[in-house]
Amino acid sequence: MIEFKNIVKKYRTKTIINHFSLKIDAGELVVFIGPSGCGKTTLLKMINKLIQPTSGHIYVNGSDISAMNPIELRRNIGYVIQNTGLFPHMTIKENVELIPKLKGEDPGDIDKKTRKLLQMVGLDPKEYLNRYPQELSGGQQQRVGVARAFSTDSEIILMDEPFSALDPVTRTTLQDELFTMQKELNKTIIFVTHDMDEAIKIADKICIIKDGDILQYDSPENILKNPANEFVADFIGKRRIWNNPELLTAVDFMIQNPVKITAKRNVLQAIEIMKENKVDSLMVTDKNNFLLGLVTLKGIQLQNRNLSVEALMEKNVLSVSDDANLISVLATMNKHRIGYVPVVNKQNQLIGLITRSSILSALSSQLIDMEVAF
Ligand SMILES: Nc1ncnc2c1ncn2[C@@H]1O[C@H](COP(=O)(O)OP(=O)(O)O)[C@@H](O)[C@H]1O
Ligand SMILES: [Mg+2]
Repeated sequence: MIEFKNIVKKYRTKTIINHFSLKIDAGELVVFIGPSGCGKTTLLKMINKLIQPTSGHIYVNGSDISAMNPIELRRNIGYVIQNTGLFPHMTIKENVELIPKLKGEDPGDIDKKTRKLLQMVGLDPKEYLNRYPQELSGGQQQRVGVARAFSTDSEIILMDEPFSALDPVTRTTLQDELFTMQKELNKTIIFVTHDMDEAIKIADKICIIKDGDILQYDSPENILKNPANEFVADFIGKRRIWNNPELLTAVDFMIQNPVKITAKRNVLQAIEIMKENKVDSLMVTDKNNFLLGLVTLKGIQLQNRNLSVEALMEKNVLSVSDDANLISVLATMNKHRIGYVPVVNKQNQLIGLITRSSILSALSSQLIDMEVAF
């Protein structure tokens, strides 16, 4: 959909962008993030030809943009910058409708679309359509900026730190609205920010840039879990994963090889295995490692030692799937008042065991949000 191929940008002898190659799929929201001066704005402006690369090519829907008319190209790419760039002497309606009118769209359609977009960004059309930008707060103006970017009907929207001048509350609201609009209208969006929390919140993929190079390009989840190098780890902050507990899944905090026993073994053997491993419960599995049940020391110690585990085990043991997140696992454990829960894969094979202490040791010395605390 959008492809950077071997892009180099030099100002005199200084190389700003260094053989940058990246593919962005249609309908994705990709965030460019990196320290100030790393080349984010430069890359964005190359897509709408406000800046020419020194070498390399950019393709939009497979076509090399170097051959395209810049004005035509820009009409089909929404662009939002930090200080909206609304025209002060035009009303909100005129600002939003500027490009659709230039493109000669049907006036009735334009009017409908404008109202819908204002609604989507949380501005009541009746109240705001005929106002002028200076009568609006910064946050409201930025909302208009977003509505205007979406009004072009372009498949592509470029957003260069659009929310960075806003107060945190407005900013959060706009992030939510952008996320919802993007999913509903299915645009391809490149969003520049230097705020990792913002990136994690809205991105399908994050591209971490430093000195014009890509350090990592992946989903927020994968970047948080597996930062490519020290710089990325520092950049995202070591504790960030703990601020996003929904990104932690069962496999991240389970015990890998829980002590288990097959169903045909007897009570004597079960007690021996427990002693040996210093545990007071065993997962019961069949030869294919399917989870069949669970025996506890309390449940079997007074039983006839020759009885089979199968005869005594608790069946219908509650389990969680390997991709269950920390929040939902904790909710399950709290709801059923259980101190541990086995983890199974899609085939219902036992792959691990979560206990309160396995969670605690995974979280180790990290600060955790009290909301998720036990
Ligand atoms: N016209 C220019 N002439 C020389 N250097 C420039 C010019 N425009 C940008 N730069 C330099 O290119 C680098 C990348 O800038 P930019 O893309 O704006 O960074 P970012 O948006 O990531 O903060 C910076 O070091 C900046 O100083
Ligand atoms: Mg910039």
